[in-house]
Amino acid sequence: MKILFIGDIVGKSGRATVKELLPSLLKEHSFDLVIANGENVTHGKGINEAHYHELLGYGIDVITLGNHAFSKAEIYKYIDKADKMVRPYNILPQDYGVGYLELEVCGAQVVILNLCGSVFMENVQESPFNSMAKLLPLFKDKIVIVDLHAEATSEKIAFAHQFKYTCSAVLGTHTHVQTADDRLIGSCAFISDVGMTGPYNSIIGRDITEVLDKFKGFNVKTYTVSEDKAQFCAVILDIDESNRKARSITRLQIRP
Ligand code: FE2
Repeated sequence: MKILFIGDIVGKSGRATVKELLPSLLKEHSFDLVIANGENVTHGKGINEAHYHELLGYGIDVITLGNHAFSKAEIYKYIDKADKMVRPYNILPQDYGVGYLELEVCGAQVVILNLCGSVFMENVQESPFNSMAKLLPLFKDKIVIVDLHAEATSEKIAFAHQFKYTCSAVLGTHTHVQTADDRLIGSCAFISDVGMTGPYNSIIGRDITEVLDKFKGFNVKTYTVSEDKAQFCAVILDIDESNRKARSITRLQIRP
């Protein structure tokens, strides 16, 4: 099966780029499943209900989240009805939404699991390693795709080595910078970070001047999301549904 996983969609320009590019990618590749990280979709932090439906309308099947999952207050009102959305399994609060989702794709059962890393991350209730070990018995004989939303490349690479024969893909998100280490580890497709689908001329999605001011020591409390035209970052996965092994992972980066 062919899967497209789109890296962190940031703000208005990220959404516009998905709208512009996804139809032609779908036509060219006939993906069986499209997953996107949407934790920065609404003004750079969180996702509101309108934007959740907007992304599904562009052809995205499942939306994963991250450390900003609960940044918009309205998420508490709609997340339990949003049956195409996955929030990190191991962050607080734990009683809203689901941490993994199971779908039938090409006759196979596919689990999409969202986890946060525990290095340099707040509100993480349990190490992703412990969460995964606990969940594995439930995922027996299923294709498991993990969005590991984490800061440290070391944690993401270590996770892939630990679960290289039980996960079909471990895909890093959160840093907004695509890494060039897409590869197979065991039978698992891996990349440290898929990269951002968001404003190209920005500092990981935010206005350049404001971030520079912060680094110069000025008191900057909030950052504006850049509206510069977005780059598109994703990976294409090919997974053999007969044995759940990844055949390939290919990086995609389309710059404006
Ligand atoms: Fe994040």
